[in-house]
Amino acid sequence: MKTILVTGGAGFIGSHVVRRLVNNYPSYKIVNLDKLTYAGNLENLKDIEGKGNYEFVKGDIVDTEFINNLFNEYKFDGVIHLAAESHVDRSITNPTEFVFANVIGTVNLLNAAKTLWADDTEGKRFYHISTDEVYGSLGEEGFFVETTSYDPQSPYSASKASSDHFVRAYGNTYKLPIVISNCSNNYGANQFPEKLIPLAINNIRHNKPVPVYGKGENIRDWLFVNDHAAAIDVIYHEGRNGETYNIGGNNEWKNIDLIRLLCSVMDEKLGREKGTSEQLITFVKDRAGHDMRYAIDSSKLQNELGWEPSLQFEEGLAKTVDWYLENQEWLDHVTSGEYKNYYSAQYQDR
Ligand code: NAD
Ligand code: TYD
Repeated sequence: MKTILVTGGAGFIGSHVVRRLVNNYPSYKIVNLDKLTYAGNLENLKDIEGKGNYEFVKGDIVDTEFINNLFNEYKFDGVIHLAAESHVDRSITNPTEFVFANVIGTVNLLNAAKTLWADDTEGKRFYHISTDEVYGSLGEEGFFVETTSYDPQSPYSASKASSDHFVRAYGNTYKLPIVISNCSNNYGANQFPEKLIPLAINNIRHNKPVPVYGKGENIRDWLFVNDHAAAIDVIYHEGRNGETYNIGGNNEWKNIDLIRLLCSVMDEKLGREKGTSEQLITFVKDRAGHDMRYAIDSSKLQNELGWEPSLQFEEGLAKTVDWYLENQEWLDHVTSGEYKNYYSAQYQDR
């Protein structure tokens, strides 16, 4: 029986990773460590919370003593590290919070793993989940590859870039068995509605304005979250030590085109006349330092480990809309309280 620590497992991507590992690997014990910030929600994991090979621990990766004690107690064989502050707009408002969670938190985990595995790294693995945003912003041409120089442009991407550097440095200096992946924008069930797609679905549903930053010309490469979880599974098990793997959907969309497509899907699902939801699109003040384009070349992962995205975007988006419409209670719960205050502060002058 192997014991694997997943950090941030109550968040969007983490919950899909935890579910996949708990269901597919009965011989693993999956320990989900999460601070339950505004983005962490145990409702995401209701279906597996009673399983014998799953345990939830509430705690903060920034708390060094707590992390050291946890590693001492559970003697983890592996770490899959997803816990982070993850929203660019929040990082612009409060960058320091991102340094604590994303940089200090990661270094605390690295130190604890280094100590625990000091005598024997056989079969051990520290897997750090990162983002394509560390590579900066692309012009009209080109793709991010694993060797693209880091050029982070937002406090969020700067904090993730810093954590990636620490992970590689521990691999190089202390021979910690590390692996890193950098993924493009995810979408799917359980994403907190501060991110573009769930925010737009929620607003369209309630006939509220859909805020599009600037002219809506920025481009993102969208990947269905279950496909990211599948990539994490294969990289954790078969990725080579010390390597980086880019994960992407090969699916670039200009924000405005994506929102128009989403509006048409929502019109259909809600039985609204064609063109109704598009009237909610509202162009608002642009994000400060807004990266223009992200696009991932994931051929290394596809060629080496045989992973590829399983869904076309139109299909994934339709599934995603269905999930949010069928889980209105989930949305109501997460859009109450703290999030409401954030929303009014974020959009007050937009
Ligand atoms: P999320 O914000 O939905 O979830 C983050 C989780 O981490 C939450 O459950 C939160 O409670 C937990 N957390 C935050 N600070 C913590 C702390 N100090 N201690 C313990 N737990 C803490 O984020 P997500 O979108 O699921 O992203 C997960 C990871 O994947 C992040 O590392 C992010 O950088 C990376 N990533 C995200 C995307 C994306 O499109 N969402 C793309 C590529 C990479
Ligand atoms: P987001 O989901 O925040 O992800 P990221 O900034 O990490 O790519 O935003 C995706 C794109 O959508 C990005 O170009 C910013 C834009 N955006 C809007 O136009 N309106 C919004 O209300 C939000 C949240 C994002």
